[in-house]
Amino acid sequence: MTSPTKQRVLLLGATGETGGSILNGLLEHPGSFNVEALVRPSSAEKPAVKALVGRGVQIRIGDTTGPIEDLVGLLAGVDVLISAIDPGSLLAQIQLATAAKEAGVKRFVPCAFTTVTPPGGVMRLRDSKEQVYQHIRKLYLPYTIIDVGYWYQLSFPTLPSGRVDYAALIKPNVEIHADGNKPTLITDLRDIGRFVALIIRDPRTLNHSVVGYGDFLSENEIFELTEALSGEKIERKYVSANEIVAARDVPGRGAYAADYEYNKYVRGDNTSAYANYLGYLNARELYPEFQPKAFKDFLHELLDGKVARPYAG
Ligand SMILES: NC(=O)c1ccc[n+]([C@@H]2O[C@H](COP(=O)([O-])OP(=O)(O)OC[C@H]3O[C@@H](n4cnc5c(N)ncnc54)[C@H](OP(=O)(O)O)[C@@H]3O)[C@@H](O)[C@H]2O)c1
Repeated sequence: MTSPTKQRVLLLGATGETGGSILNGLLEHPGSFNVEALVRPSSAEKPAVKALVGRGVQIRIGDTTGPIEDLVGLLAGVDVLISAIDPGSLLAQIQLATAAKEAGVKRFVPCAFTTVTPPGGVMRLRDSKEQVYQHIRKLYLPYTIIDVGYWYQLSFPTLPSGRVDYAALIKPNVEIHADGNKPTLITDLRDIGRFVALIIRDPRTLNHSVVGYGDFLSENEIFELTEALSGEKIERKYVSANEIVAARDVPGRGAYAADYEYNKYVRGDNTSAYANYLGYLNARELYPEFQPKAFKDFLHELLDGKVARPYAG
């Protein structure tokens, strides 16, 4: 039985990186949320799903591409539906949103969780997300879009000693983009769920976009801080704005990475000032009592060997 004061939250993507953070963030508030996970049939037997069950998370098995009436039934009783689906599957949320409207879901949080970017050709990833947002708005479905800047876990440079390679997704990672001076919003992956738990309980955030972040630093500042804390000198590799723009036109996965670089370091969109201009609410102003981890503290953990590499599985 759900307590009348608790929200029943259904999370798609609970076995993923962003979804895992959201799950942890919600489970930190057992008095506020009953958390369930939406899992596709092909993943039902995965060890990661069994691990969710082991943590007391109830599982609803369903196919987002299946018949709409099945999906509507699957969403029965859900107050808040959160999607943390991977970039390649974003459009699976279209049918999910249609079903959520029909099922009377009170708030849909579609998969945003990215940098602050305008729609319309700056980032292909953002434009795929926009298709989902437009669909939600056409449905008149209550929603909240949550962006978080770029993960700390993807924002640190590697060191000549190899000391932080254990946590790095890209090795070596010593590129400075454009002049390296544009500050950009960044967040510890582990804090995403903590922001989500605050935002979805808050009536002020209904039908709004919200940005949450832990720090606001340029690449030059990040490199200098890493050098100061590690005592190592990093050999920088400079990538010009023109090279970034050209890389966006080369078909393949690299173009998506170049879109992010264009967004963060050439255009400099990923700031709270620009988010404010785009109409976002600022989670740091809404919840001044919540102190997300500062990048400097993350670096200390990283140098102590205590940070998990994303996508390790
Ligand atoms: N801000 C940043 O720095 C940053 C970095 C990376 C990603 N992101 C954003 O975060 C979002 C999530 O990415 P991620 O890397 O965290 O994802 P991920 O780790 O790849 O996890 C994706 C999750 O979605 C589930 N899933 C995929 N397709 C599904 C479907 N059709 N039906 C049900 N479940 C499905 C997967 O479950 P299975 O177990 O079934 O595969 C998995 O749990 C992305 O859209 C991306 O834009 C942001």
